[in-house]
Formats: sequence, C-alpha cells, structure tokens
Amino acid sequence: MAGFETLAWRGDLPGALEIIDQRALPARHDLLRLETVPAAWDAIKTLAVRGAPAIGVAAAYGVVLGAQEALARGGGGDGVAQAALAAADHLATSRPTAVNLFWALERMRRALGRLVDRGVAGDGAFVARSLLAEARAIHEEDRATCRAIGRHGAALLGRGARVLTHCNAGGLATSDYGTALGCIYAAVEGGNPVTVLSCETRPLLQGARLTSWELERRGIPVTLISDGMSGFAMQRGRVDAVIVGADRIARNGDVANKIGTYGHAVLAREHGIPFYVAAPVSTFDLSLASGAEIPIEERAPDEVTTFGGQRVAPEGVDVWNPAFDVTPARLVTAIICERGVIQPVDEEHVMALAGAGGWCR
Ligand code: MRU
Repeated sequence: MAGFETLAWRGDLPGALEIIDQRALPARHDLLRLETVPAAWDAIKTLAVRGAPAIGVAAAYGVVLGAQEALARGGGGDGVAQAALAAADHLATSRPTAVNLFWALERMRRALGRLVDRGVAGDGAFVARSLLAEARAIHEEDRATCRAIGRHGAALLGRGARVLTHCNAGGLATSDYGTALGCIYAAVEGGNPVTVLSCETRPLLQGARLTSWELERRGIPVTLISDGMSGFAMQRGRVDAVIVGADRIARNGDVANKIGTYGHAVLAREHGIPFYVAAPVSTFDLSLASGAEIPIEERAPDEVTTFGGQRVAPEGVDVWNPAFDVTPARLVTAIICERGVIQPVDEEHVMALAGAGGWCR
C-alpha cells in the first residue's frame, strides 16, 4: 500500500477538495484544503497538484466548488449551472499541455448538458449534486484505469528489469497507483523484482522529490540520477527498459511529456533499449495530427535560475523554460493504455485502440 491519498473530496455538499501539497514533498507531507475555484486554479498552476490525470480530477472537483459557491449564495439551477461553466472556463486556463484537464472539464460540461436536455436542471442542489457525482466518477475511473495500465505494462517487463523513468507518473500524478509507475507496481506485485532508475527531472525535481519518495514508500529499490546521466547509464548496461507517462499524445503517436523525455528516447534508440509510454485513453488528443501541434507550457525563468531558493545564474540571463517536450512516435516502442498495448505506434494503431474515447474537440 502506498499509504497516501493524492486528492480526495471531503464531506458531501458543501465539501472541499483536499490534496497533498506536492510542492512541499518530500520534506513535509502537508495537506491543502481547497474550497474555492481560484484556490483550485492556483493549486494546479503552481503544481501543488500535478501530473496529467491528477489535474484532470482536480479540475473536475474545481467545477463542483464553483457550483457549490453559487448554491451557497442561494442560486437556483440556472445560477449553479452558469457558475459551473464559468469555473470550467477558468480552470481550463491553468495549464495548457496535459489534455486530461480539458477532457475532464468537457465531461463536466457534458454532464451539465445532459441535465438540461432531461429538463431537470431547475434545482440548484440537484445540479451541484449531479456534478459532484460526475467528478467522483472521473476520480474512480482513473483508479481502475491505472490498475489496467499497470497490468498491461507489467507483462512487457523481463524478470528483474531495471527500468528508467523520468518525472513522476505515479500515484501522486493520478488518483492512485500511476501509469508508468503503475507498470512497476504491478510487476512487483506479480513477483517480478524490478528496480528503478529515477531521473531527477530538472528544474522542479519531480523525479527526485516525488518518484523516489513514492517508490521508497512501497519498498521498491530506486537509484536516483541526474537527467544528464541517463545516456551513460544506458551505455554501461544499467537500463533494460524506459517507461514514462504522457501529458498529451497526438493521433500519430507523438508524445508530449516532461521536458527531458525526448533525450532519453533518443538515447534509448541508440542503445537498442525499449522506450514505453504509459497513459490513459484520456491523454490522447485525436484532434491533433502530430506532436508539432501540441501546446507546450513555458514556465517562469526563476525555476531555472534558482535551486532550492538559491540563485544559480547571473541576474538578467536569458532563460527558456519549456515544461514539456515532444518525442516522435518513431522513437516509441509501444504505448500502454488501459485497453492494451499500441504497437507499432502510428496513426492506424492509435486509432484502432484509442479511437473511441480520446479527446477530440
Ligand atoms: O509538470 P508536471 O509535474 O505536471 O508534469 C507531469 C508529467 O510530465 C508526467 O509525466 C505526466 O503528466 C504523466 S502523469 C501520469
């Protein structure tokens, strides 16, 4: 058991979204109670809650926060629905790359639309309750999805495989269990003693702070390396497979994931090491023909110019800080999703497995 809950809805209505404040890990295991839409927006923006599936779930509950605020102000069905839609529009501006955010918000809008179609959107309390039920369903489904991804991914790993991963695609990045780390957990639970090489993930250190923390809690052997060490680790025969998560996958199988992922993929190809991506169907953006169209978040320069609160670069230096990169499909050995394994990775095979249910504007 992981023994932590990444995010949870506390109470009924009114209730609150409680998250682990991932900015504080591993030094402190603080919980944050989010009661307003701006608080949920801020938590997503500042990475208190992060990882593609987790921000989708958080945003869905954020819509409920908007609905319940309107209800508390005495709003009827119309007022609650308008507030929920306004919350969805606002939350959609928090982070641009992980498509799970937009996928989850669209599910919330559609749930609202169904109430209107059925002519039952007149009662504000009923509308808010229905939205909470939809957010809970998204949350629960994500748990089941991660387990299924884990099962499919574990089957790809040889006995005692040494797996390199980047960033955090574990329980902290999802409702529970994770995608890339889910494959590792399922392998270990199935009796395969896999071990992990965790890349630290500059600049925000999700690999060092979060992946190592999660793996240690589960008793899985993990060795931390800095991002630039992955090529040498592969050259020295210390890596049998790479598994990473994804924030958005285009129709042709190009994958956006945490900055640094692309470099590991190139190196894996050079060394003949399989490079796997583990992600739910909700991470596919079928409206995009290729990864060139994926919006890439650029974050504040001080994430790069400072380290642990200390300045590590001269004042005024020019900085480029893209939070994600795009790995071309040709470098991806297979994509592991809850429905099975996509291999080879091309438009035909992506559409065959993820064609129904992926995000499409
Ligand atoms: O900026 P972050 O920490 O939200 O980036 C997260 C990642 O890049 C993860 O690998 C991705 O969201 C997959 S999470 C299952």
